[in-house]
Amino acid sequence: MAVHTTAAVTGPVGGSGLLLEARHVSLRYREGSGVSHALHDVNLTLCGPGYVGIAGPSGSGKSSLLYVLAGLKRPSGGQVRALGLDLQRLTGSALCALRRQRFGFVFQQPFLIQFLTVAENVAVGSPRIDRSARQRAEALLVRLGLGRYTGRLPHELSGGQRQRVAAARALMNNPAIVFADEPTAALDHAAGAELMALLHEYRTARGALLAAVSHDEAVISGADAVVRMWDGHVRTVEPAQASGG
Ligand SMILES: Nc1ncnc2c1ncn2[C@@H]1O[C@H](COP(=O)(O)OP(=O)(O)OP(=O)(O)O)[C@@H](O)[C@H]1O
Ligand SMILES: [Mg+2]
Repeated sequence: MAVHTTAAVTGPVGGSGLLLEARHVSLRYREGSGVSHALHDVNLTLCGPGYVGIAGPSGSGKSSLLYVLAGLKRPSGGQVRALGLDLQRLTGSALCALRRQRFGFVFQQPFLIQFLTVAENVAVGSPRIDRSARQRAEALLVRLGLGRYTGRLPHELSGGQRQRVAAARALMNNPAIVFADEPTAALDHAAGAELMALLHEYRTARGALLAAVSHDEAVISGADAVVRMWDGHVRTVEPAQASGG
């Protein structure tokens, strides 16, 4: 994978189409009578397939960066391009369709629907919950080691198992890009490592891009590239100015 912090993208970087770009992106929040600047003039190009880790202290803008790249938040200024599309040009429903069909999301908490079974919680990731969606949900759960639990309710699982169900839901539509915000933060070390192994297995098999925010250097250390945030800025990108795919 390749990462650039400059505006120019040349050579093999543009080739795969698995491109995520931020150009002069800012994000501001109104706070009472003042304004809080979550992102200042962020310029970044990520080109998959591969794994990019996003690190930095609390409040440095990691989640903000992930959410503007993923189209979950509209930036206050600047442009975001993903998979060849200018996100700011998309209508709300087109953006929603892009997120649903091409992106997968894993958050710190699994956000499962408590009255649906494990298999139903995974199938809801599909635009149409038909027989083939149910079969794919079951197959994903088997692959993630949860084949015995498909008929259970979320409260009958451990925290690590619930997070794996959330990962299965994220992978339901075979996403090109998986965004994860502190996916292991609520898990013990072993369950966290297992979850990351599943995400890596998927992105390697699919040729996908995984972008994950984490405080955990064990999670970040496996990354092909690391974006380090500081006070709303991209402080460094490692490896610096990598070139080639
Ligand atoms: N909804 C909001 N309203 C106002 N300010 C916000 C909001 N969300 C985030 N911020 C502010 O934006 C800045 C960046 O927040 P962000 O959540 O991106 O940080 P983070 O690096 O993900 O932190 P953490 O590691 O604690 O999750 C912080 O100063 C935060 O207080
Ligand atoms: Mg955060």
